[in-house]
Amino acid sequence: MSSHIKTVAVVGCGIGRSHIVEGYIDDPSRWRVLAVCDLDQARLDAVADEFDVPRRTRAFADLLAMDDLDVIDVCTPPGSHKELVIQALRAGKHVVCEKPLVGSLADADDVIAVEKDSPGLLMPIFQYRYGDGVQKAKRIIDAGIAGKPYLGTVETLWKRTADYYDVPWRGKWATELGGVLMTHAIHQHDMMTYLMGPVASLFARVATRVNAIEVEDCVSASWLMASGALVSASATLGSQDEISRLRLAFETVTFESGGGCYSPGDDPWTILPANDRVAAEIDGLLRDWQPVGRRFKGQMRAYHDALVGRGPLPVTSADARQALELVTAFYTSAETRTDVALPIGPDHPKYRSWRPDTA
Ligand SMILES: NC(=O)c1ccc[n+]([C@@H]2O[C@H](COP(=O)([O-])OP(=O)(O)OC[C@H]3O[C@@H](n4cnc5c(N)ncnc54)[C@H](O)[C@@H]3O)[C@@H](O)[C@H]2O)c1
Repeated sequence: MSSHIKTVAVVGCGIGRSHIVEGYIDDPSRWRVLAVCDLDQARLDAVADEFDVPRRTRAFADLLAMDDLDVIDVCTPPGSHKELVIQALRAGKHVVCEKPLVGSLADADDVIAVEKDSPGLLMPIFQYRYGDGVQKAKRIIDAGIAGKPYLGTVETLWKRTADYYDVPWRGKWATELGGVLMTHAIHQHDMMTYLMGPVASLFARVATRVNAIEVEDCVSASWLMASGALVSASATLGSQDEISRLRLAFETVTFESGGGCYSPGDDPWTILPANDRVAAEIDGLLRDWQPVGRRFKGQMRAYHDALVGRGPLPVTSADARQALELVTAFYTSAETRTDVALPIGPDHPKYRSWRPDTA
């Protein structure tokens, strides 16, 4: 087999099935799904049969012992990520991990320390970054054409009803680690910082109003970006029509995301230049645009490039830590009713856990 084809084991057959469908199975020149793993035998069999995966196991340790396995893709519930990722890194594997990478900044720093001593490349999932719309915006901003960032709005207006919370790990602090902030808005918030840079401080209010759950399902927040720009973020799971929307006003370009609730990175984005000169610069920059692949397809493709030395890691553990830092600031602000400054280090009271029962 060509050394450019990487073998993958997918662990957890919920969203893991989507990784196979969108990211791996249609890309045989890059990926071969060698194994699937799930504690639930029926789910395991269904996915292994559907995609003709040669190996199936309920024991994660079996994967660690497979010498011909390059990548372990962790798609289990959040509470198990840290242990599985560390075991996989220590076994010398490359690792993909679903969001959230782990359940606290302390855990993120533990994982990052293990990653530094391991040969494998760890890529957290943030597939919403992948789509031609968001990638074009990123290229325009990084080229300096958009100028100074002024203001952003980011909306995560989704709908989740009681049946969504039938899965036992959802809706609880101990296992889901948070609500709409942790599970849903984390994608759009990552997109906002991807495009507008890091957050300097934020104030947030959270409420649980939609479902009978422990964690929050409504959020309203104000961010001050390190650049001086302002961002307004809102999220709910009680919207009848589902919308993910980012709007970013820069000095010479205003951007608005496309309409896909679960793929807001897709083309077309509305890109409004301030004048003809800026429009011409954008046209020139994007003239030879090559489609990047949307969602998991684009992210896995860029990961493969990194594995074969043809590009940088598309999402890093530092990016995942930044997303968790934002989550920590949100929950701290909501609990203390104060503006919370970032970055957040080991001396912060919520460094070891952002859960409300810890301080
Ligand atoms: N990126 C996205 O858009 C997206 C969407 C949905 C879920 N997620 C994330 O993916 C993860 C999984 O979510 P889900 O909705 O697929 O959950 P799920 O409960 O539907 O599926 C998880 C599967 O993992 C299996 N599992 C649990 N522990 C295991 C272990 N130790 N070894 C092997 N299998 C194990 C379970 O049996 C289950 O089949 C979560 O972290 C979630 O936040 C991300």
